Amino acid sequence: MTSRVQVGAAIVLAAGEGTRMKSSTSKVLHSIAGKTILNHVVDAVKELSPAQIRIVVGASRESVEAHVKEIAPQALTVFQEVRNGTGGAAQLALAAAPTSGNVIILAGDTPLLTGTTLADFASVHAEHGNLASVLTAEMPDASGYGRIVRDENGFITKIVEERDASDFEKLIDEVNTGVYIFDAAALSASIKKLNTNNSQGELYLTDVIALIKSDGGKVGAILSNDYTETLGINDRSQLAECAAIMRDRINDGHMRAGVSIVDPTTTWIDSTVKIAKDVTILPGSALHGSTSVETGAVIGPRTTLTDVVVKAGAKVVESNCTGSEIGENANVGPFSYLRAGTKLAAGAKAGAYVEIKNSTVGEGSKVPHLSYVGDATIGSGTNIGAATIFVNYDGVDKHKTVIGDEVRIGSDTMLVAPVSVGDGAYTAAGSVITEDVPAGSIAVARAKQRNILGWVLRKRANTKSAEAARNAGATETSDTGAN
Ligand code: UD1
Ligand code: CA
Repeated sequence: MTSRVQVGAAIVLAAGEGTRMKSSTSKVLHSIAGKTILNHVVDAVKELSPAQIRIVVGASRESVEAHVKEIAPQALTVFQEVRNGTGGAAQLALAAAPTSGNVIILAGDTPLLTGTTLADFASVHAEHGNLASVLTAEMPDASGYGRIVRDENGFITKIVEERDASDFEKLIDEVNTGVYIFDAAALSASIKKLNTNNSQGELYLTDVIALIKSDGGKVGAILSNDYTETLGINDRSQLAECAAIMRDRINDGHMRAGVSIVDPTTTWIDSTVKIAKDVTILPGSALHGSTSVETGAVIGPRTTLTDVVVKAGAKVVESNCTGSEIGENANVGPFSYLRAGTKLAAGAKAGAYVEIKNSTVGEGSKVPHLSYVGDATIGSGTNIGAATIFVNYDGVDKHKTVIGDEVRIGSDTMLVAPVSVGDGAYTAAGSVITEDVPAGSIAVARAKQRNILGWVLRKRANTKSAEAARNAGATETSDTGAN
């Protein structure tokens, strides 16, 4: 149904204070699904390939401008020093550069709008030969929105803000979504005539519709079929509401593409994440940033992945991973923490209660239980015994540990970096390794054990331990040792 309509300029209004958010961060810089509200809007606008994007900034100018440079370096930012309303913002944007053809104007606080909806809206506007069109929606709860007033023939006559509406007009459930398309010349002529005769004493962009109409121009109100797309965010409840809708939309897309999501209501996936088919995501999981998951992998339950590459067939259970690569058929968790720079090769394991950072664990190597691995390179086929610590920090600097192939690190080993353990070497359990261990040797670095016989019977007489020892045949004099 969409014939592509050329858009000369797309104007995004984002200068408002966002007072109702009660935040020191600009409203449009709050995030849902891994992108700012403004980024979602700008991405939808980009799908129209407008000749130019103009973004009106005001409140939190520096941070919003810096963000615009990242997400849309081609966009022109226009500074609205005095926030005198959406009409004032549009006037400035219009005056910022010559404009012709179609001008689309929308608010920076409606992140659920899609490029497809905008394109469909532009097509209908063109088909009807309108000079101005407003996108409308029938809201289950219209409060706070401007209402669409239509005449007896169903044609729009004006938009009235809730604060300025009569009791009768407040009953209208068709609202202004804040998305408009104008003919540039008609808009330029009418926008000059705006006045502040309203309850807020502001210039209302909405009034342009009635102005163009009274000049004999054809205007139209075009009803969108999905009101959820046009929800605006003014406060934190609406932020959460929109985030939940976005979550469902993203999850639906993945499920339709062959991903199993066991509990979509507790699974939060950023719009930037890539997931192959036949991946399973278990309840309570969150996938953020540039995370990608290859086929057959199982994620969760209760797992958070941020900027993580998960290769085919890997399993990540109840864990938190950031900036890591998890190799094919590798296993992580439960209850493990992979930090930036962790790379698990194919078939490797970071088991229960394991923390790893800036380290490579070679093919088939295992760190099964209760260990910390930092700044290390571990070869293939190696096993790191339970409760091993890579002592990488001397209090001032970080140092590296290099472990070879087919090494067996005994349980509770301290590897004091910088240190290396050669291929096929062993360390004895409980060792504190401070010297390099040559290939094929075993390093024993702990005190030799001494048993003082009869000690409990002498020094802890009349205890349950002494009684148990006596029952087992021990005697006071079974040792000559002191103490
Ligand atoms: C506006 C519309 C209302 C519509 C609703 C849709 C007007 C007068 N009202 O109301 O009909 O139903 O959006 O969500 O247009 N902004 C500026 N400069 C300003 C004032 C606002 O750039 O001086 C920006 C804001 O940052 C925001 C957008 O314009 O992104 C809309 O402003 P907001 O105050 O949220 O308007 P609403 O009261 O929601
Ligand atoms: Ca709004």
